[in-house]
Amino acid sequence: MALHPAFLVVLLVGALAVVSSQVTLAPGIDPKYQFFIDLANTPIAKGDNFPGLGVFRWARFRSNGSAYLDGFQQAFGDSIHMRTAPWGGISLALLTIAPGGLRQPHWHFNTAELGYVLSGTAQVGAFGPGTLPAAEFAVQQGQIFFFPQGNNHYIANSGSTNLTILNAFSTVDQIQTLQLDDLLLLSDPSVTAQILGGQSATFAQFPAYAVGSKALVPGPAGSNKIGSPLDGPIVSSDNLNASNYFYNLKGSQNFTYPGGVIQWARYRANATAANLTAQQTAFSQTLHNTNAGITAGSLLVVPGGVREPHWHTVNEFAYVTGGKGTIQTVGPTGADTYSYDAVPGNLFFFPTGYSHTIRNPPGNTDNFTLFIVWSTSDELQSVDLEESFDVISSGILGQAFGVNPQVFSSLPKLHETIAPPRNVSGPAFSNVLASSAQAPASGPAAPAAAGGNGTGTNGTAVKTATP
Ligand SMILES: *[C@@H]1O[C@H](CO)[C@@H](O)[C@H](O)[C@H]1NC(C)=O
Ligand SMILES: *[C@@H]1O[C@H](CO)[C@@H](O)[C@H](O)[C@H]1NC(C)=O
Ligand SMILES: *[C@@H]1O[C@H](CO)[C@@H](O)[C@H](O)[C@H]1NC(C)=O
Ligand SMILES: *[C@@H]1O[C@H](CO)[C@@H](O)[C@H](O)[C@H]1NC(C)=O
Ligand SMILES: *[C@@H]1O[C@H](CO)[C@@H](O)[C@H](O)[C@H]1NC(C)=O
Ligand SMILES: *[C@@H]1O[C@H](CO)[C@@H](O)[C@H](O)[C@H]1NC(C)=O
Ligand SMILES: *[C@@H]1O[C@H](CO)[C@@H](O)[C@H](O)[C@H]1NC(C)=O
Ligand SMILES: *[C@@H]1O[C@H](CO)[C@@H](O)[C@H](O)[C@H]1NC(C)=O
Ligand SMILES: *[C@@H]1O[C@H](CO)[C@@H](O)[C@H](O)[C@H]1NC(C)=O
Ligand SMILES: *[C@@H]1O[C@H](CO)[C@@H](O)[C@H](O)[C@H]1NC(C)=O
Repeated sequence: MALHPAFLVVLLVGALAVVSSQVTLAPGIDPKYQFFIDLANTPIAKGDNFPGLGVFRWARFRSNGSAYLDGFQQAFGDSIHMRTAPWGGISLALLTIAPGGLRQPHWHFNTAELGYVLSGTAQVGAFGPGTLPAAEFAVQQGQIFFFPQGNNHYIANSGSTNLTILNAFSTVDQIQTLQLDDLLLLSDPSVTAQILGGQSATFAQFPAYAVGSKALVPGPAGSNKIGSPLDGPIVSSDNLNASNYFYNLKGSQNFTYPGGVIQWARYRANATAANLTAQQTAFSQTLHNTNAGITAGSLLVVPGGVREPHWHTVNEFAYVTGGKGTIQTVGPTGADTYSYDAVPGNLFFFPTGYSHTIRNPPGNTDNFTLFIVWSTSDELQSVDLEESFDVISSGILGQAFGVNPQVFSSLPKLHETIAPPRNVSGPAFSNVLASSAQAPASGPAAPAAAGGNGTGTNGTAVKTATP
């Protein structure tokens, strides 16, 4: 279908207006960087670097634009902020903690937190709010912890190698945090003495420090745990109390498709129907019972496979954990349509409604793997492109595209979600398009085909490029 040149100009101007009126890009920064950042190599702000202890690499919005360290951070940060409401926002940190290091007990005022361990071993502790019990447990590579908004939690590196974690937050605003040590320091000593039975001297003897100075503190490397909990040993991750905060994503059910595998850490409205274990049900409920939610999952696409074009009703961040692939986004009416080569350490942002396609090109030898988070505490909803061809009548589709409706009525209904490697170089559609010359090819809406599904017209049967 040929578009009138004037129409193309309107489309282009419209696309530019969308970009320039909302995200102002630094000189030389391509608009595609609104949806992509090389997180593993992004520059580190001074306040996020704790020499010898750890590092935070951020993909987040900064209300102070001068605080972005380069135009790439700014394009991505301003883009996620502009596209937040009302579908929920996500910020993400790639956190490295050195062996023995401890991220102090603290809580967030305005966000939940979901961490996925990329490497190393964490000891994590959490309690509250409300009736959520206390639990301390280990989290290994491929596993997840979740802290609801207001939950008091800590993260320690209990192994002998760097601990690296992808930490997702359910906000794009400045994250508001208070640490236990700072609360104690700032509270009236006579009050802390009173609530603890009058022992005023105890805290006064602690080493002096400045408020906010101890986000990460050192400790002995390779210890199984930091200190010794007074109330007993660290519980197994299978413990039902720990399960409120812990999910073994790597060990969870594999949803296997012809071209790959999906694993979920998500809320399920009906845990029985989803065949969740008691532990998984506890986690699903914690995800849901927080007022700022996150859903997570992992995606594996085999060489030659493709996660078909699809979209959600919430925002999505996808981080490449292994292999190489290509990713395409399609934004509103021609805007924000980009293709990317993706490698480990890359982070992608798929705003609500934006179609995205995740492909492992044929010829690759490794699986293409991603860790993904979505901005919802409800059961995640998706729409796949193929569904449109299944549920809309072929007459309407024929009319919409200006071709013989039988093109659509004879398409296979594969429902593959992740399509397998497949030869797509055949001449699948040429006969059909030739035979559909009888149908109006462009211009105003074609007259409705009688019967709504193409019974009034006829054409050559379609042979699609399926094996
Ligand atoms: C904004 O950030 C810059 C760079 O970090 C800093 O110099 C400046 O003081 C900040 N401005 C405000 C108002 O915080
Ligand atoms: C869960 O924690 C409560 C106290 O908060 C404790 O009484 C209970 O025994 C714990 N349950 C398990 C399975 O550890
Ligand atoms: C551990 O992490 C730090 C901070 O990112 C880095 O400088 C160091 O090279 C890492 N060590 C190893 C063995 O990867
Ligand atoms: C899912 O697949 C992985 C990798 O093949 C495997 O280690 C894991 O045990 C599987 N999970 C289940 C529940 O079968
Ligand atoms: C949950 O799923 C189970 C099994 O599929 C079904 O028997 C039950 O009726 C469902 N419950 C609700 C509330 O839909
Ligand atoms: C339900 O999950 C268990 C493991 O937790 C598995 O053994 C079983 O096959 C699953 N049932 C169905 C119907 O998927
Ligand atoms: C790719 O993933 C599939 C499915 O989990 C697995 O069977 C296969 O061994 C993996 N291939 C490689 C090279 O890791
Ligand atoms: C793919 O299809 C083309 C055209 O039909 C054919 O020439 C080619 O041999 C096929 N390749 C494979 C690997 O089947
Ligand atoms: C069109 O719809 C009619 C009535 O629903 C049905 O009998 C016929 O099989 C359909 N034809 C095609 C090609 O789908
Ligand atoms: C449609 O084509 C089929 C197969 O060529 C033929 O049997 C049928 O009569 C045709 N129907 C119409 C309405 O032309």
